[in-house]
Amino acid sequence: MNKNIVCIGAGYIGGPTMAVIAKMNPDRKVMVVDINAERIAAWNSEDYSLPIYEPGLVDVVKEVRGKNLFFSTDIEGAVKECDIIFVGVNTPTKMFGKGAGRASDLQYWEATAREIKRFAENDKIIVEKSTLPVRTAAAMEAILNDHAEYRFTVLSNPEFLAEGTAIKDLLEPDRVLIGGPQAECGLCAIQEVVDIYAAWVAKEKILTTNVWSAELTKLAANAFLAQRVSSINAIAGLCEATGADVDEVARVVGADKRIGPKFLKAGPGFGGSCFKKDVLNLVYLCESFGLHTAAEYWMGVIKMNDHQQERIVSRLFKEMFNTLANKKVALFGFAFKADTGDTRETPAGTVARLLADEHVRITITDPKALSNAKHDLSDIGDVVYEEDEYRAANGADAIVLMTDWRHYPTLDWQKIYDSMRKPALVFDTRNCLDAEQLRKIGFKVLNVGK
Ligand code: UDX
Ligand code: ADP
Repeated sequence: MNKNIVCIGAGYIGGPTMAVIAKMNPDRKVMVVDINAERIAAWNSEDYSLPIYEPGLVDVVKEVRGKNLFFSTDIEGAVKECDIIFVGVNTPTKMFGKGAGRASDLQYWEATAREIKRFAENDKIIVEKSTLPVRTAAAMEAILNDHAEYRFTVLSNPEFLAEGTAIKDLLEPDRVLIGGPQAECGLCAIQEVVDIYAAWVAKEKILTTNVWSAELTKLAANAFLAQRVSSINAIAGLCEATGADVDEVARVVGADKRIGPKFLKAGPGFGGSCFKKDVLNLVYLCESFGLHTAAEYWMGVIKMNDHQQERIVSRLFKEMFNTLANKKVALFGFAFKADTGDTRETPAGTVARLLADEHVRITITDPKALSNAKHDLSDIGDVVYEEDEYRAANGADAIVLMTDWRHYPTLDWQKIYDSMRKPALVFDTRNCLDAEQLRKIGFKVLNVGK
């Protein structure tokens, strides 16, 4: 008989992942529970105003919600009813005590483990979905199995989906990774989770490892991707100084099959909930094991990323006659990338704060991230939030394009130019606008790596 599944944590990972698992496993009951009642209400809302924006997600939820996918705050009931528990609660970077600024804050995870233990009435398979430091599974297994009536087997099934393409990534993954104890009960548990994914993923793409390899692989995969972005951004500064064009360099470097073309787009630096957190986690791990040179190496990826946003503001400063005070700057885009409303670690947040330090009059426009932007910047006063790009640009001295929303190149840039103070500047940090066209209109144009 197919086993029931519950996911604890109805966030960016839990929501879309369970929706796709439910769609592809129509015979299984899939429950998603969360302590946040407002979030659950949004997942259950009649008009499908879901708590996260993700292309294609509404269609999947429409198809399965109420059939075999259920959202609820009843954690106790769900734990009792299921055999396989995915845990997708948040594990932000710890901001206090030992490992502050580097290690993951595991308090939500541990609280969840203790809840599972309290409510369980049979053996359970626990599957880590959140990104966690290596050896968390072992720690959780120790908490769960200490004086326990039932047997808990902890597996690691890290999620590789990227926001904005989550549904596609889930439906057509490059690989699915399931790590677990290599002893008998571990191997059976691994097989149970393999069976869930085998409903739609080719067998050869489902990779199984020991639990520590799986935990470390997630950190390593994100660190490698982040490192590529920092590498190309490091080249971008050199391009600006020498007259080379970073997009041309990236195209030719990426044509080497050994390197490949992806994740070589220079820009304002990486954001999102994973890259910085995971690289910092890796740094913390390296330090804890005395691998100081490796820790420094990975820390360089973060330093380069922070430097990229500082460089953007100092170039703007220089281009605007070394004074930004009282000038109006419109940020086009606040989400950390296109097709998401997520603003966690967004480079636009850092740029906004650096501009606020210079007493800039800031206006922010974004099609999906305005409410998150307001929340993130609530401590800096006088920021104007505008849904409409034309109103955001009206009277501005400069536009800084931070997110490569697809419709930005198709805006009426002549109309925008006419409404701005002159000289009107566009700093396209994503290199996604037609710079030639903008210059013809009369704009001064800055790009990253050009
Ligand atoms: C990432 C990983 O891709 C995913 O596998 C993992 O599960 C979670 O972390 P995500 O953070 O959603 O996904 O987005 P991603 O597309 O990887 O972009 C991360 C950041 O890097 C964004 O800010 C993006 O704008 C930036 N980026 C990406 C670049 O600046 N240049 C690139 O070439 C690619
Ligand atoms: P991610 O990007 O990893 O999915 P999110 O922050 O989007 O992270 O989602 C994590 C979810 O986990 C939040 O909705 C939060 O309310 C939920 N959560 C945290 N702790 C618990 C807990 N003990 N029980 C149930 N849900 C929890």
